[in-house]
Amino acid sequence: MPAPGRSCPAAYYYGARALHGEPSLVVDTLWLAGGLYGNPLALEALLGAYESERGAKALVFNGDFHWFDGDAADFARINDTVLAFCATRGNVETELATPQEGAGCGCGYPDWVGDETVARSNRILERLRATAQRVPRALTALAALPMYLVAQVGDARIGVVHGDTESLAGWGFSQEALATEDGLQRAREAFERAGVEIFACSHTCLPVLQRFSGGRFVVNNGAAGMPNFRASRYGLATRIALAPARESIYGVRRGALHIEAVPLRYDHAAWERRFLEQWPPGSDAHASYYQRIVAGPDYQFGDAARTGADSIPGRIRAPSPNSNTLPSGM
Ligand SMILES: [Fe+2]
Repeated sequence: MPAPGRSCPAAYYYGARALHGEPSLVVDTLWLAGGLYGNPLALEALLGAYESERGAKALVFNGDFHWFDGDAADFARINDTVLAFCATRGNVETELATPQEGAGCGCGYPDWVGDETVARSNRILERLRATAQRVPRALTALAALPMYLVAQVGDARIGVVHGDTESLAGWGFSQEALATEDGLQRAREAFERAGVEIFACSHTCLPVLQRFSGGRFVVNNGAAGMPNFRASRYGLATRIALAPARESIYGVRRGALHIEAVPLRYDHAAWERRFLEQWPPGSDAHASYYQRIVAGPDYQFGDAARTGADSIPGRIRAPSPNSNTLPSGM
């Protein structure tokens, strides 16, 4: 029996064939914001950017929109705002609304994540559960959310998941798994079984845009509510659309489609204050995440944007020069 936080409960499995159905969204512009992690400033930045889009559009919060919002008022506000758009459940929302026996945080952490981190995540979830229980209407709504959905933009069917092609908390679309031949082969097989051209995911906290033969892509936005690159202070969303984004950190053309990682330039100082009010030094979230919040993870643009050996014509754009990076030395 795996330890809490290491397991992927049976109820999390849907399998790639579940994605074979008709698309529930058919739009010209699709935004995906996984891993908001309870950051209201990132939510504000996201909605501001999304509002400026014209034409047929949809915004999907594909899971883990709660995490640091231990304050009940923040939790309720984020819940109400997110659920006014499309949303799918992440492991966080699932473990709040319908706790699975022995799942802990439900993250399904792989071996490369240390035991202390896993234990802290389990305790963060417990605290968040106490908050969520003070907002019963939120729990009912979260329990009713789907685990995945299918969208269509142009000629591409897009499987929108939180984890991977098999499970809500799978790590098959992590940058680590997609750095191995075994992981790439599993993804190739998943495209066939799911009948999609693009998988859009989150959950594993680091972004990756991986190209496969036949115009197929896995695009993982990392975190909407936390920095994703060394010395940066903005979140990332995925934008898949028939017209290019005003700004993107990197991206690729797929025929008429633009698949891009767009920055969410939130008010860092305000977010840092709000985070510290809820998770001061000595708290579990502070120990696990504060360094990342102020200085980013040890990860760079080039680590995320992967053309692959079997590329199709297209162009990965260079990082934007104005990318909210910190002064050197931080
Ligand atoms: Fe997750």
